[in-house]
Amino acid sequence: MSNESLANLMTEDRRFPPPAEVTADANVTAAAYESAAADRLGFWAEQARRLSWATEPTETLDWSNPPFAKWFADGRLNVAYNCVDRHVEAGNGDRVALHFEGEPGDSRAITYAELQQEVSRAANALLELGVATGDRVAIYMPMIPETVIAMLACARIGAPHSVVFGAFSADALATRIEDGDARVVITSDGGYRRGAPSALKPTVDEALTRPGAANVRSVLVVRRTGQDIGWTEGRDHWWHELVAGQSPEHTPEAFDAEHPLFILYTSGTTGKPKGILHTSGGYLTQAAYTHHAVFDLKPGSDVYWCTADVGWVTGHSYIVYGPLANGATEVLYEGTPNTPHNGRWWEIVEKYGVTLLYTAPTAIRTCMKWGDDIPAGFDLSSLRVLGSVGEPINPEAWVWYRKHIGGDRTPVVDTWWQTETGSMMVSPLPGVTVAKPGSAQVPLPGISATVVDDDGNPVANGSGGYLVLTEPWPSMLRTIWGDDQRFIDTYWSRFPGKYFAGDGAKKDADGDIWLLGRVDDVMLVSGHNISTTEVESALVSHPRIAEAAVVGATDPQTTQAICAFVILRGGARPDEDDAALVEELRAHVAKELGPIAKPKRILPVEELPKTRSGKIMRRLLRDVAENRELGDVTTLTDSSVMDLIQSQLPGAKSED
Ligand code: WT7
Repeated sequence: MSNESLANLMTEDRRFPPPAEVTADANVTAAAYESAAADRLGFWAEQARRLSWATEPTETLDWSNPPFAKWFADGRLNVAYNCVDRHVEAGNGDRVALHFEGEPGDSRAITYAELQQEVSRAANALLELGVATGDRVAIYMPMIPETVIAMLACARIGAPHSVVFGAFSADALATRIEDGDARVVITSDGGYRRGAPSALKPTVDEALTRPGAANVRSVLVVRRTGQDIGWTEGRDHWWHELVAGQSPEHTPEAFDAEHPLFILYTSGTTGKPKGILHTSGGYLTQAAYTHHAVFDLKPGSDVYWCTADVGWVTGHSYIVYGPLANGATEVLYEGTPNTPHNGRWWEIVEKYGVTLLYTAPTAIRTCMKWGDDIPAGFDLSSLRVLGSVGEPINPEAWVWYRKHIGGDRTPVVDTWWQTETGSMMVSPLPGVTVAKPGSAQVPLPGISATVVDDDGNPVANGSGGYLVLTEPWPSMLRTIWGDDQRFIDTYWSRFPGKYFAGDGAKKDADGDIWLLGRVDDVMLVSGHNISTTEVESALVSHPRIAEAAVVGATDPQTTQAICAFVILRGGARPDEDDAALVEELRAHVAKELGPIAKPKRILPVEELPKTRSGKIMRRLLRDVAENRELGDVTTLTDSSVMDLIQSQLPGAKSED
């Protein structure tokens, strides 16, 4: 990546006035940055005291064998005890842990005392199935309370879980079961999505016919939808029979801080998925601290809602482990934002009085597309802090989110992190940092992140390069499951001694960090490096554009040519006016970013291909732009999107 061209593309002029911040009594103050900078390990040792340890750690970090870190290595704890039992012991057993909202409208409130009983029953059931400490358990579930209970039950008995996202195919599930050598699968008959039951158990049955899944001896099945499913006697067990029949008491055993907590496979655009390994004490310390600090959580009064699926790391760290370790009350919603109507999310915020909301830019842009009058129809005045995660948030979406959802009074925290980092790394702090829409801003206290050039030297303010993490952090991945060499090669080889995140980034004149997307997504146009994210952001700053995805397509003249797919605002369908609009958009990008960033082709489409974590699958769009056969579509939310895009192609306009 050439730093000069990235610097030229900086969009300093598109700043917005900072919001009024309202968190005078914020959990964390500016002093945290200073104390963490003065004594980073001391700072994390102090944060570890948020947890209840069976044996307090005396050692903070062992970095004698980099990049293999050990945090709090001589400490012992039980993660599930920390997330559940200790809150009951502290007298908060009656506090609601989970407000479950099913898509069909059924709901269930589960207190910490009830959660303790349910997790204990599930732990006893897993023990009855012969699950031993260290055995892997695969979890393939919808967004229902039993999913959270199953994860905590695994943690309680020291059996690392491997949650596989519920929309993955039998092949994807089988590959993950095989790689992690899972012995038990927890699933359900199905879940509700888009107004109808959607089956899960048949996919498990199919996955288990693959030779690699031969070691799975038991399948535990939750009944959610009541649909008909196949049954293998001796292997399959109903949750409502096996779990419900167990004792609600289970004494948690303490495990080493470095005991494996879970494996989670990254979607991985190329190659075999990587099983990211997270362990116990360091992971829970940072998940709990960041949730407390970044959301300014006040347990007992706040109602928190993270809209992610538990199949992603956001669900692991910010639905299950972080919030529950902090004793939070949270919403768990099963379905889609537009079932049965486009205001369903805002109805849920109003119903439960949600104060802290954590969602993704793609969801925010979708809500923008549905129109301002939808959120305006609900009372959202309970909201206090708004979070964003998953990709760089374009300033327009940031401003819309704060104005139409946050009523112009709430801080927006744009949190950068990855499956690999385990918890948030770069983020504003409400009430501490001055907001800057579109920027993740500064490393959190105790985190060392910077932007470096091709040679690994930190860039000056006003320049671009690669985001790196320069010191180990408590919730860092410990390795790639079964492949230490790939762990070293992927993350620690590009810049010796530093963790390479794979993201392009720039530092503005104040030294604040702006993420530019995956380095793989940077385009090379006539010798200039151009970030797909910045062109997308320029496109959606045009009043008629709701969403944009940009790819570089091979081009004989310019190496790569910028090709943009855009969705029009207000649900407008691409039509005859396209030629004029396309010209207007090209001129708009040229004005915002410079003529070199002007897209060669702009194709108005009705949908974009996305994974369910909200990431645009640019690989598929590149296939379309280069007239190639489509690659693997199994991780797409909705594979018909690509048919739709291709069917719209004959009408697409090409330029120059
Ligand atoms: C990649 C990690 C973190 C949980 C969900 C995704 C991108 C994530 C931001 C942000 C800019 C972001 C990066 C990162 N990303 N958050 N706030 N600003 N980019 O986890 O699937 O492991 O993806 O998501 O490119 O590397 P993941």
